[in-house]
Amino acid sequence: MTDRTTMKCVLVEAPHSMRIDERPVPRPTQGQVRVRVHFAGICGSDLHIYHGDHPYVEFPRVIGHEFAGVIDAVGSGVPQSRIGERVAVTPVISCSDCTSCRAGRPNVCLNLKVVGVHVEGGFAEYCCVPEALACALPAGVDDRSAATVEPFSIAANMLSRTGVSADDCALVYGAGPIGMTVVQALKGVHGVAPLIVADRLDDRLDRARSAGADMVINVDRTPLDETLARHGLAPTLIIDAACHPAILEQAMRIAAPAARIGLMGFGATPSAVSQQILNRKELTICASRLNNLKFPEVIEWMRRGQINPAQFISHTFAAHRVQEAFDLLETDPTACSKVLLDFTAA
Ligand code: NAI
Ligand code: MN
Repeated sequence: MTDRTTMKCVLVEAPHSMRIDERPVPRPTQGQVRVRVHFAGICGSDLHIYHGDHPYVEFPRVIGHEFAGVIDAVGSGVPQSRIGERVAVTPVISCSDCTSCRAGRPNVCLNLKVVGVHVEGGFAEYCCVPEALACALPAGVDDRSAATVEPFSIAANMLSRTGVSADDCALVYGAGPIGMTVVQALKGVHGVAPLIVADRLDDRLDRARSAGADMVINVDRTPLDETLARHGLAPTLIIDAACHPAILEQAMRIAAPAARIGLMGFGATPSAVSQQILNRKELTICASRLNNLKFPEVIEWMRRGQINPAQFISHTFAAHRVQEAFDLLETDPTACSKVLLDFTAA
């Protein structure tokens, strides 16, 4: 346990106002562990919080929901033996009592709280969370990789919703960070081929190619539907990680009969759904939010070397340079994949 009394954290006080704050080191309350954070990843939603266009956040807030470190203190009711455990923290706090939780869907708990959104997050040297959120890491998973378990858990959850088999012909829209976690999981874990990735940015498509995509298509230059038709490809599994409302209509048109279509987005603009196509092909449309207890599965993918977090991580900034890291993500997103903050020397 630390004898320090204060810590550094990243505080968003109000939209467009972010600074390093000095705060008392939090004490774990009953059922909580305190994590000494080592690395934390910056997510698109952190940028939305910063810009004040995140629907659920209340200010001021210590943000950050993709993080890992080591347990350095425990509250009452938590075994002392957990102190010293290296952990990745899932940000999903559920009540275990509502209809969703009872149905085995705690990630859409009626009383859901997300770490770094509804409660103080992991862009801090120390963060207290309910014990169950801290998932043990094997020695084979290094500290930086551990901070990417959360974004990979987004892919794991979506693929558990759609189902996936090595026989699928898969199409992923969007080779941003989320699309890349899906690509790595489809290829490295499930061995899917062919795996087609569509984006508008060549740099991102190059990354997708290095992550194992068999075919990449720049939709600004090449019509996707014609290209697939020319190659005789009808996707049986489509994941939309680009999330433009117009994509669903095209996806339904190019999908094979009985295909599954997974939608990642949170946009409020409706998409057009033709019931005729939906039912003629008996398509399945899947939604996915955060992750439903997927951390152990993703940690196992990492331990076995089935996914490559090192390829996913493009930059690491010392935590006090958080503003620079945010600026880079905004001004040069194609240069970035996952950007980490280093809290080890904060
Ligand atoms: P991003 O904006 O970095 O990536 C989106 C990519 O899609 C970009 O590379 C862009 O060039 C590409 N794109 C745009 N229009 C396209 C089109 N018409 N066809 C093909 N590609 C196109 O975003 P990021 O961080 O990768 O996140 C992707 C989405 O996933 C976001 O909408 C985000 O809200 C959502 N998300 C959902 C989660 C969930 O639990 N369901 C969790 C985390 C993110
Ligand atoms: Mn995230």
